[in-house]
Amino acid sequence: LWLILGIRRRRPGEPPVENGLIPYLGCALQFGANPLEFLRCRQKMYGHIFTCKIAGQYVHFLTDPFSYHSVIRQGRHLDWKKFHFTASVKAFGHDSMDPSDGYTTENLHQTFIKTMQGEALQTLTETMMENLQCVMLQSNTLKINSKDWVTDGIFAFCYRVMFESGYLTLFGKELNNQEDKTLARHEAQRALVLNALENFKEFDKIFPALVAGLPIHVFKSGHSARENLAKTLLHENLSKRQNVSDLISLRMFLNDTLSTFDDMSKARTHVAVLWASQANTLPATFWTLFYLIRCPEAMKAATDEVKKTLENSGQKASLDGHHIFLEKEQLDEMSVLDSIIKEAMRLSSASLNIRVAKENFVLQLDNSHSYNIRKDDVIALYPQLLHFDPEIYEDPLTFKYDRYLDENGQEKTTFYRHGHKLRYYYMPFGSGVTKCPGRFFAVHEIKQFLSLLLSYFEMELADKNGKIPPLDQSRAGLGILQPTYDVDFRYKLKCL
Ligand code: HEM
Repeated sequence: LWLILGIRRRRPGEPPVENGLIPYLGCALQFGANPLEFLRCRQKMYGHIFTCKIAGQYVHFLTDPFSYHSVIRQGRHLDWKKFHFTASVKAFGHDSMDPSDGYTTENLHQTFIKTMQGEALQTLTETMMENLQCVMLQSNTLKINSKDWVTDGIFAFCYRVMFESGYLTLFGKELNNQEDKTLARHEAQRALVLNALENFKEFDKIFPALVAGLPIHVFKSGHSARENLAKTLLHENLSKRQNVSDLISLRMFLNDTLSTFDDMSKARTHVAVLWASQANTLPATFWTLFYLIRCPEAMKAATDEVKKTLENSGQKASLDGHHIFLEKEQLDEMSVLDSIIKEAMRLSSASLNIRVAKENFVLQLDNSHSYNIRKDDVIALYPQLLHFDPEIYEDPLTFKYDRYLDENGQEKTTFYRHGHKLRYYYMPFGSGVTKCPGRFFAVHEIKQFLSLLLSYFEMELADKNGKIPPLDQSRAGLGILQPTYDVDFRYKLKCL
């Protein structure tokens, strides 16, 4: 009967198991409604490791941060690729990128590291700074027509500025600035990016449902939005663009030389990269700016840091067409902005770190605890448990801009739980081999965005006593959560 019902019985040496009440789904609905509450409740009942049936899969949740390392370092028995490759195919509709399926021999992991870190990071960052300034100071983007206050939603503002700048940084520009500066070409270019933004928004809405396994055909507008995005990213269109990033140029080359993908499948792999580059960055930028504007001490410390950084490099913000430029080292040294970004992401990140067991094996957590894991079971870490743990972070729901600063104003890296130093205390970018390859660029671009805003604009909340919008839980597990509603702010150009 157990077998017919698809219910697992706990064998000796295995973690406690909860099959849930609904066949196949198991605990999926309860987990999905509020993962943090669900896991906290099970942690109290079962301890630091337990197994839940979720949509047909048995998932072992590991909740003790001191045990994370045993999973993160486990290479031999755990597969981290299969889950990612399968999720990507479900969401973006390209052929499998898993070399073992035979459509490509590209090592994606290597492509990402090579083109987003080291020297490539420098170029990406420089291009982004240029694009951010072009986008921010264009009157029609920011609705600036005078030096009056302008009201806008913080999320809408971050979305527009970061999407447009990020899109141009990755996929280049259509026109050659030197030869063709006609307004019409320029407007056509902007229209294309803004159209991509609308399609991205529409597609991003259905993303959680696609990852959960629903077929895209159920969602008419989401489906056509994804296909529209892919059409603009066909190689024949990309090859007409200039300043395409190393990341996209190399991916185009490898699509053309190492894969058997058709044109649309190649284009859909670029939609996947576009999504990865924007889906977390946009809400992360929102939360950072929102908490910054709301906290006068943070605003002061950040403004001082930006001012000092510019002064030290002999630069000054001005509206005479001269752009500000910040070296990678200068961005890395901005520890106040760093702490503000980290704190905003600590409060809004809800990613799930997943590995799949390649075979039956014994998971050794520490000297006294080991557990039998069955082949194909999933092992999951949910770092929000860590980020909201009052033993690690005092008043975990409160934004403290200097939480990640030490007594010398440098990055704080020592956090404790019950007197023991933690190796893992901040994980919005994932962990181990699956750690986000774009994390350095992501932090740079948010620092650049803040530096420019603080240099060029005065800002204030429209409602200074307004509440913090709740996190939209429908995306829990996928990264940085969006706010359930936007918050208005006012900005105006400084008299420079
Ligand atoms: C993967 C977070 C920005 C490119 C990931 C993962 C997370 C993450 C949690 C999955 C890790 C795992 O599965 O364990 C974030 C956050 C960002 C951000 C919080 C911004 C605040 C970016 C940017 C880019 C990027 C700007 C590119 C320009 C990627 C790629 C992957 C990835 C390509 C897939 C890597 C792979 O499967 O090998 N990111 N990311 N991310 N991210 Fe980011």
